[in-house]
Amino acid sequence: MQKQYNVEDLQIDQKLIKEPFALLEFEKKLSKQMKPYYNIELGDKTGKIRAKAWTESIPNLDTNAEVGNIVAITGKVQSYADKPQIIVERLEVVDDIAPEEFLVVTERDRSQMADDLKAEIDKTQNQYLKQLLDLFWNNDDYRDKFINFPAGEYVHHGYVGGLIEHVWEMNELSKPYLKMYKNLDRDLLFTGIFFHDIGKLEELDIVGATIIRTVSGRLITHIPQGLLFVDHLIQQIPDFPEMLKDKVFHMILSHQGKLEFGSPVVPQLLEALVLSQIDDAGASMNQAVKHIEKEYQTGNEFTDYHKWLKRSFYQKDYYSDPNKTDESIDGSSSTAITSDEKRFDRAIRSHATNNSDIVRNTDSAEESESMKKDKQNSLF
Ligand SMILES: [Fe+2]
Ligand SMILES: [Fe+2]
Repeated sequence: MQKQYNVEDLQIDQKLIKEPFALLEFEKKLSKQMKPYYNIELGDKTGKIRAKAWTESIPNLDTNAEVGNIVAITGKVQSYADKPQIIVERLEVVDDIAPEEFLVVTERDRSQMADDLKAEIDKTQNQYLKQLLDLFWNNDDYRDKFINFPAGEYVHHGYVGGLIEHVWEMNELSKPYLKMYKNLDRDLLFTGIFFHDIGKLEELDIVGATIIRTVSGRLITHIPQGLLFVDHLIQQIPDFPEMLKDKVFHMILSHQGKLEFGSPVVPQLLEALVLSQIDDAGASMNQAVKHIEKEYQTGNEFTDYHKWLKRSFYQKDYYSDPNKTDESIDGSSSTAITSDEKRFDRAIRSHATNNSDIVRNTDSAEESESMKKDKQNSLF
């Protein structure tokens, strides 16, 4: 089955015939007249769209469909509250498409980030923290999950490879702090960065074509889950010093910075203070950049309100004149910029600090060489 339309391409009044999407929500509801209908969310690599199946369509729905399945949708795109929504007439589960094709994946190179973090592990001089990091990294199962898991369902880094990207970014962000404040314990800070969100491996899961919060994740949440996980590792290391254990635990427990953000204690170590700040910086920047990436196509001066960051962003300066060349923006090349994506990418890059230490390529196979080159100097 071939996909014809991506979510981002859907137009009002467009008809869809057996168009495959990932099923992200499939919830039976009752109307005021006690008639059943379905609240649905569909998605693919380019975005998500709400959908509804009214009572009269229910005989044409495969009601055994589950969140994470790929489903073929027949229906029509309509406008509801100024947003497109699909009115579903038929929904069938399909099994000839790999769910991974519908999952968003980090644009950074996962194996490069893994190599960089492994090099940081090898730099660790505290023998107990080194053993702790090695115990994790040398376990194929743990390492594989760490490299491929998201860091969130939807708030930040909510895509395949999001967890390692989040940790890798935080490690890069920690470098100026280490340079500026010489009495910071680098090994403790790195260990805290590495493990602070490790509970996400149990809080979240990738099921078919979607990221879910597990039952245990909802009942326990990632901070206590991370603490239990790291405690389990530490128990395998003979003579791990009690004080050092308390410090590592404190890094995990306080990383959300404030009690009202879900941490049971505020940071009381310098390393914990840095950790909570770079965690917030990485998470906020990721949300803001992804929001603008989605919104700039509207051509509006300001983005829609971002419900987690509680603001709209002025996004007009992230466009560039389509007639401008690379050279006129950053002096790096003379190729004219044509697509909106490239304009945005270039423009946002021109606003970013030029830090060659954190230059990374992309591993996206379908991107052209020129697109790859475009992203080489991008911070985002
Ligand atoms: Fe967290
Ligand atoms: Fe985090």
